Amino acid sequence: MSTSQSASGSQLNFLTASIADLESRLTLLNLQPRDQANTVDGRDVVAGLKQTKKTLPPKYFYDDRGSELFEQICTLPEYYVTRTEAQILQEAASEIAQLTGSCELVELGSGSSTKTRFLLDAYRDQHCLDQTIPFAYAPIDVSGGILKESAIDLLRQYPSLQIRGLIGTYEQGLQNLPPALAPHRMICFLGSTLGNLNAKECQQFFDQIRSALQPGDYFLLGIDLQKSSQVLEAAYNDVQGVTAAFNLNMLRHLNWRFQADFNLEQFEHFAFYNRRYQQIEMHLRSLCDQTVNLAALDVSISLAAGETIHTEISRKFDLEQLPLLLGPSSGPKWLKSRKIWTDSQKWFGLALCQAVLE
Ligand SMILES: C[S@@+](CC[C@H](N)C(=O)[O-])C[C@H]1O[C@@H](n2cnc3c(N)ncnc32)[C@H](O)[C@@H]1O
Repeated sequence: MSTSQSASGSQLNFLTASIADLESRLTLLNLQPRDQANTVDGRDVVAGLKQTKKTLPPKYFYDDRGSELFEQICTLPEYYVTRTEAQILQEAASEIAQLTGSCELVELGSGSSTKTRFLLDAYRDQHCLDQTIPFAYAPIDVSGGILKESAIDLLRQYPSLQIRGLIGTYEQGLQNLPPALAPHRMICFLGSTLGNLNAKECQQFFDQIRSALQPGDYFLLGIDLQKSSQVLEAAYNDVQGVTAAFNLNMLRHLNWRFQADFNLEQFEHFAFYNRRYQQIEMHLRSLCDQTVNLAALDVSISLAAGETIHTEISRKFDLEQLPLLLGPSSGPKWLKSRKIWTDSQKWFGLALCQAVLE
């Protein structure tokens, strides 16, 4: 065998071994039903579009293109959210791992898991000190493409990490969590994605979190805090138009998913801070009178020129509201805030909470 043949042979072995290794450390479960039209998914679209004030659930932002656009948003100068939370996480990660001890990380709406790497670094260090502690991560996301891509990237970056990914909604993921590998779990919900839920959805969400946690388990929550409306409005109306493209992409996603015929040219992005409700609102405004068909859902909707479809709220919180936000227990388990970190401008908060029996 020539030198070049043996070199490419061993390279091949290395690649094969490495793929086998990645496969042995990765489990992916798709919880999304195949037949979309007859599912809760289809029904939430029809229900939203049939309201007098039309709405669409924000989860439909996230097909592969939507996830890619969100990643671009995270790097925009106006979008302070990601870099502020990343800085807090970077500074607090070791302390969080020390406070919680060994934990399996579960992340809701994990996306690219970029900021999560600060936490993974800290829990990997714990695992290095005591190899009997499993080093495990369970990302949950509706956007399967980005979840798979980032899982493979993470397995390469962390050679002892085990990943059990769940493709589906928060609710589906929380209901289908496999038994924890470590003594405790920490469910992370970063990026202030909580702000996309209205007060009622928030309460239901916290009930699901409490049910998924055992006493002693942890919940790590990143929330965007109130600040000047100029800063907020700029963050959702960037000059490059990436947020506008992200908002409009929801219609492209619905065209594909439900065989709809939204014409993206006939809508525009509209985002503003609603001071009364302390939330950014994103809408898609119809530029003309039009009718749109969603063939797979057997529904047609009419829009007047100027009428909007409300696609997202992004609530801005007050740290003092946190105990109220975490809500009363609907059973014997409570979520108690253990420690809160923030940045020097108090623009973003990171709260470590623990499930306790009372
Ligand atoms: C605002 S991004 C945040 C991403 C990342 N956690 C961060 O902090 O940068 C929201 C993420 O949650 C996912 N997502 C949105 N709605 C969801 C839902 N109902 N269930 C599960 N994942 C959802 C999206 O695909 C996206 O990756």
